Amino acid sequence: MAEQVNVLVVGEGGREFAIAHKLQQSKHVKQVYCAPGNVGMTTVGVQPVAIAETDFAGLIKFAKEHQVAWTFIGPEDCLVDGIVDDFRAAGLKAFGPTARAAQLEGSKDYALNFMNQYGVPTARHASYRDQTAAIKHVDQFGFPVVIKENGLAGGKGVVIAQDRQTAIQTIKDMFASGQARLVLEECLQGPEYSMFVLLSDGHYRILPMAQDHKRAYDGDRGPNTGGMGSYSPLPQLSAQDHRRMIDEVVVPTVKGLVAGEYHYHGILYIGLIMTVDGPKVIEYNVRLGDPETQVILPRLKTDLFELVDAALDDRAMPAIEVDPAACFGVVLASQGYPKKPVHGQDLGKFPTADGIEIAYANVNGKLDDLHGAGGRLLMVLAQSASLQDAHDRVYHYLGQLDEPECFYRHDIGAKAGLK
Ligand code: AMP
Ligand code: GLY
Repeated sequence: MAEQVNVLVVGEGGREFAIAHKLQQSKHVKQVYCAPGNVGMTTVGVQPVAIAETDFAGLIKFAKEHQVAWTFIGPEDCLVDGIVDDFRAAGLKAFGPTARAAQLEGSKDYALNFMNQYGVPTARHASYRDQTAAIKHVDQFGFPVVIKENGLAGGKGVVIAQDRQTAIQTIKDMFASGQARLVLEECLQGPEYSMFVLLSDGHYRILPMAQDHKRAYDGDRGPNTGGMGSYSPLPQLSAQDHRRMIDEVVVPTVKGLVAGEYHYHGILYIGLIMTVDGPKVIEYNVRLGDPETQVILPRLKTDLFELVDAALDDRAMPAIEVDPAACFGVVLASQGYPKKPVHGQDLGKFPTADGIEIAYANVNGKLDDLHGAGGRLLMVLAQSASLQDAHDRVYHYLGQLDEPECFYRHDIGAKAGLK
């Protein structure tokens, strides 16, 4: 490709910061726009555009007016709501699944049916529309039992009930809160991993592995969040287990997508648990993870523009080349996140430091006078030949900040032996 082109990223968080930043670094790209984006993105040359991610017509109009070659969709809600279908109907290319394929994330029940149909290993499960039936059958899964709301819940719709009494109460509470359908599942034991797969119709590329930390506080305590920190690669994952995850989970999933005529061009994020009986899927998501993306993409040596451009046109995708240097990141969140985050606090300016990058998320105001705009504000990142060194740099930087209305976890990477 001789000429440079413009691309658009839809979304506003740290994940979209990382996607937009990586695309802006491509030699094929003139300008990355991000709608709505955030002011922090201007630090890496990305231009925020004040159009809401729910305003599909506005986004389509912008993409046409600014000769956007294609649009990369970050968040799941717009995918579930059919943003890709609308772009395609307007004659535009968008990277992400159609509304039909996005049900793999939008409905637990749909995803489980897909896994059953195409032989993808998962937990023993059943879905219930009726409280009495759910309570009647709860014992057959053993305890603890996993109870899931059927629809999109931002990671908050899953309860692991340790005993029968808690399970029954949770089932009652979920139906009482208006859920039409619940899924009960056997609780799988083993380490949890996420795989990020870049798909064109029937072909795939595996992105580097990253580990998230979902609980709010140190020691994996406190409420579930969107994710408080991550790192890549994973020293604790053997090459043999990684291979099994590809052969036993990715391959049947991709075959199912082809057999079911999903024409999937986008990211599939597969959450799985490595049990003694092999890898088993606990969820599909139809987009990249936040905060995993922030540590995965800096390690990707392959040009992200070339990967997505080839995937969208069903051309052969380039091979994935990965920088061996590790990447480590810790989220700085507003006090009270996730239940009742402080809003609008004065953050000031984040100093630059050698070897430190900041992926901004929920911030607004000016770069030298930032304000918090909700839960996860930003992520402090470092890349280094050694994961421990990257860890030390990030925590040294965080230790020097004076942000009383914010908090972060101090034990990111502990499971990889970092301290
Ligand atoms: P999900 O929203 O499906 O990702 O579930 C949120 C979290 O609940 C996951 O990250 C797992 O830690 C846990 N989880 C979900 N399903 C299971 C399961 N069948 N067995 C054990 N843990 C699970
Ligand atoms: N980090 C978890 C997610 O993006 O869903």
